[in-house]
Amino acid sequence: MDAVTGKDAMGQGRAANLASGLFVTFEGGEGSGKSTQIKRLAQDLVQDGLNVIVTREPGGTPAGELVREVLLGGAAESLGADMEAMLFAAARRDHVVSVIRPALQAGGIVLCDRFLDSTRVYQGLANALPQQDLKALETLAIDGLMPDITILLDIDPHLGLKRAAARRGQGDGPDRFEKETLQTHIDRRNAYLALAVAEPDRFVLMPANRPEDVIAEEIALVVRTHMAAQILRQEADGG
Ligand code: TYD
Repeated sequence: MDAVTGKDAMGQGRAANLASGLFVTFEGGEGSGKSTQIKRLAQDLVQDGLNVIVTREPGGTPAGELVREVLLGGAAESLGADMEAMLFAAARRDHVVSVIRPALQAGGIVLCDRFLDSTRVYQGLANALPQQDLKALETLAIDGLMPDITILLDIDPHLGLKRAAARRGQGDGPDRFEKETLQTHIDRRNAYLALAVAEPDRFVLMPANRPEDVIAEEIALVVRTHMAAQILRQEADGG
């Protein structure tokens, strides 16, 4: 196997046998490079003939995209952080039921820009609802579906915010969740790190202050290793 890309672990032909799909989520603060890395991974996997679905939250369905506009545009802000949490959850459930689960059942690889951990971090820190209510909302939203892998692109907010501002260019202001204070962004980073420490089997921590190519290779290696492991398990089970 190529030590850097892991490519031989997932040869053509075997790829088509991924029975239960693979659900990969990407998390991280502003300017952590999630969208770039998702695009690169998707291109890499598609080149190998794999069935890849790229999606995002909030969004990913027609209703979810409407909810996205309401949330990121700030129209829901005056309704309160609790209502925002409920809107994120409603969009997530629609996304899981109508897009993510069907794609996984068809053996696809779903790459999702943000998922439940974003709510745990952003709404959790905003004290949107008491913890047990956020948990109940999460249970409803994910409908029993947890990511197989969560790539956490970890970045110092000083750098991440600079990158996000440069990406936006002139004229466009920060969105509802970007405009918080630097301290809030630091708290979010720490909350993400705490989640990664609590679930080391699911999370992969990627320092995001490194060259894009290096990060892309590491992500591809992690994903291919998971795929190879899943196929070996299937074969051992006689599937
Ligand atoms: P987006 O433009 O997708 O930001 P990014 O490029 O940083 O991913 O906007 C999504 C915003 O919504 C982001 O600031 C995080 C926030 N968010 C939550 O607060 N809770 C959630 O559950 C999700 C999915 C996103």
